[in-house]
Amino acid sequence: DAFTAPQYATSDPASFAHTSARERWPIIITQGIDDVHKSTWASTDDATVKEGKEIVSELARLKYELQHDRELSPIPDDGEADVKAYNEELAARGNPKWHSVPWLYAECYLYRRISAIFKQTQHWRAYDIFARQKMDTFKSSRPAVLELAARYKDIVSELQQKHTIKGAQTQQELEAAEEVLFREMCEICLWGNATDLSLLTNLSYEDIQKLQGSEARKQSEKNILVNDLDRAFKTLSSAQKAGKKDRRVDIVLDNAGFELFVDLILAGYLVASGLATSVVFHPKSIPWFVSDVLPADFAALLSALAQPQNFYSALSDEDKSAGKTATPLSASELDSLTFLFQHWTSIYAEGQLVLRPNDFWTQAGSYWRLPQGAPELFADLKESELVIFKGDLNYRKLTADAAWPPTTPFTDAIGPMGPGSGVRVLALRTCKADVVVGLPEGKDEELKKMEGGSTDAGGRKWAWSGKWAVVQFSDGKA
Ligand code: F6P
Ligand code: MG
Repeated sequence: DAFTAPQYATSDPASFAHTSARERWPIIITQGIDDVHKSTWASTDDATVKEGKEIVSELARLKYELQHDRELSPIPDDGEADVKAYNEELAARGNPKWHSVPWLYAECYLYRRISAIFKQTQHWRAYDIFARQKMDTFKSSRPAVLELAARYKDIVSELQQKHTIKGAQTQQELEAAEEVLFREMCEICLWGNATDLSLLTNLSYEDIQKLQGSEARKQSEKNILVNDLDRAFKTLSSAQKAGKKDRRVDIVLDNAGFELFVDLILAGYLVASGLATSVVFHPKSIPWFVSDVLPADFAALLSALAQPQNFYSALSDEDKSAGKTATPLSASELDSLTFLFQHWTSIYAEGQLVLRPNDFWTQAGSYWRLPQGAPELFADLKESELVIFKGDLNYRKLTADAAWPPTTPFTDAIGPMGPGSGVRVLALRTCKADVVVGLPEGKDEELKKMEGGSTDAGGRKWAWSGKWAVVQFSDGKA
């Protein structure tokens, strides 16, 4: 990659990469081992059990290599097309060790290695070690889901029946209201990301629920350090006013569960308001960074919402043994959830909501490689009015996870995806890693001075927790 700043690496004690490799990743593997254990014990098929035990020992070996700072070993040939690229890059990087390797490459490699363990089995090929966690956290976000469902029904049914937004009398007022709602939906979508599971290792469920309610969202607006939503809105509304027939918005998804739910809220709003005529979702193809969306997660979410009363009344074994009971949904809660489910399935059936996987999203490289490395995908994204990149990892990939000075313009830091690319990029990112660009002069210094804002080694600790966010836009013009 032709960028100038060095990439963050696990050897740098000031970077979150350091803690990630030493503390976070071993925990993630351990949780994976627990999960496979559970599924193995639940199985009655001898061959499945036998393979399950082998998987557990492979995962334990991976954890051992990581914790003892061994070399990253080549990805075994599991029959997938990307093995070669991963291994060539590994060799080109000089067979690095876990504790001194560029963060972005190593973290992608980690999930690819885990996937290879499963891909080489017969009975566990399609198994997702993170699926259980993803659905559990969705269930625990019930209060926020119900609040949003009620609001969604109000807004969308008004748009459908009266082609307006409550309270708007004139065309001008309608447009202003549309923009306000666009902002709100995007911000819901932004903070929905604060709840990803790879950070759950240091966030409690209670913290998460607090993050999800609408009061919390209003409070959090001041935590959005740069907010380009007005420019993104203009892009969509000008295309609409120009009478362009097909106006597509793409969402490069991040996490399943609650975040996918809010992505669907945004998608549904865009279509219902006419700000877009279709929305394309880009999921991952292998279990990725714990909570990222796979096509199966999309199906799981819709089937939970198809029978919400059943979904919410089914208790986990833990809840049962803790003596918990489920509170049934009220008639109006059920009504809102049914409305939302029907709206989503109808736009899906009409082809206005599309799921489009691509292996590029689970390669190890940054998005600086997208134009050359995935030319068809790149051409496809240029067709879109707006490509929304959700979450922290997508932001790290856009900016090549490099140690840019924090005042570097966003458009510079995204390199070939920036000016001249023809892609209109909107990043909705809660900060969970070191890289951050496009900040006003002095902001980083100010945040570092706050309590807990900096590490002893001068690291950008304020940017690790998901408390702060940036919303940045690039219009792709030369
Ligand atoms: O920084 C912690 C981390 O888990 C990174 O590994 C990764 O970039 C990110 O958070 C995952 O978050 P998100 O789901 O928002 O991409
Ligand atoms: Mg994620």
